[in-house]
Amino acid sequence: MKKYLVIGNPINHSLSPKLHNYWLNKHEINAVYEKKEINDDELEAIILDIKNEKIHGINVTVPFKKLVIPHLDELTTLANITQSVNTVYKKGNLIIGDNTDITGFELAIKRTNYNLKNKSVFILGAGGVVPSIILALKKMEVSKIILSNRTRKKAEELKNIFVDLQILNWGDVPKFDIIINATSIGLKKNDEIKLNYKEIGSNKLFYDVIYNPAKTNFLVQGEKNGNQIENGKMMLIYQASAAFKEWHGVQPSVDNEIIKLFNL
Ligand code: ATR
Repeated sequence: MKKYLVIGNPINHSLSPKLHNYWLNKHEINAVYEKKEINDDELEAIILDIKNEKIHGINVTVPFKKLVIPHLDELTTLANITQSVNTVYKKGNLIIGDNTDITGFELAIKRTNYNLKNKSVFILGAGGVVPSIILALKKMEVSKIILSNRTRKKAEELKNIFVDLQILNWGDVPKFDIIINATSIGLKKNDEIKLNYKEIGSNKLFYDVIYNPAKTNFLVQGEKNGNQIENGKMMLIYQASAAFKEWHGVQPSVDNEIIKLFNL
């Protein structure tokens, strides 16, 4: 039986095993997908297990998406641009790192039917997933990306990859069409992002990378003021489906049943 893993730290709350095992079962593939909490010094051994075909693929989550890169033989173009890997597999004798977060975000946005072309986007946060989001936004031809992070230096570093990014101080709010929360503020129920929601107004898209809770205070406020809202659930499902396709050669369906797995 083939074995797949998601590695991270912490990993306890990962929903990836639920998703992948549902699809493995549905497509009658003889494989199992598990989660494993690891420390930095265990990365090398895991990659060796993929080389030796004890493990057949891994998903990588916080905080290893960048840290895993030195252990790999090759990166796909998208993983290389973003310097972020969430999916690993063996091809021939090489261990390849890919990034399916980009397509995950892109498909999730397309599903909202909100047309991003020539729109202006404001991103809060500069963590591991942000380069993937920015690349997807560029693919969708937004006109402008403005970013603000509590630690300004981390935001400035993103300009090494994306030169035309505009950086604002934390607390400043520009005019925008879409606002994306890519910080971890909202994971705890009482977390609040202090914005002047009334001034921001209506008819914009409020997107939160967080999916648990399903409606962060940021999304509650966005909705209350007449904006469309979307959480990170579909991004997670679509990045998983793209990894599944790579490993098993089958495009799993994103149906209502899989979405129901998220009724937490
Ligand atoms: P990582 O940085 O390891 O990739 P992450 O969870 O992906 O971790 O990112 C956390 C993001 O949330 C960062 O942008 C972080 O800002 P800093 O770079 O200043 O740490 C942001 N964040 C977390 N808690 C925050 C808070 N209380 N206020 C503002 N930003 C916060």
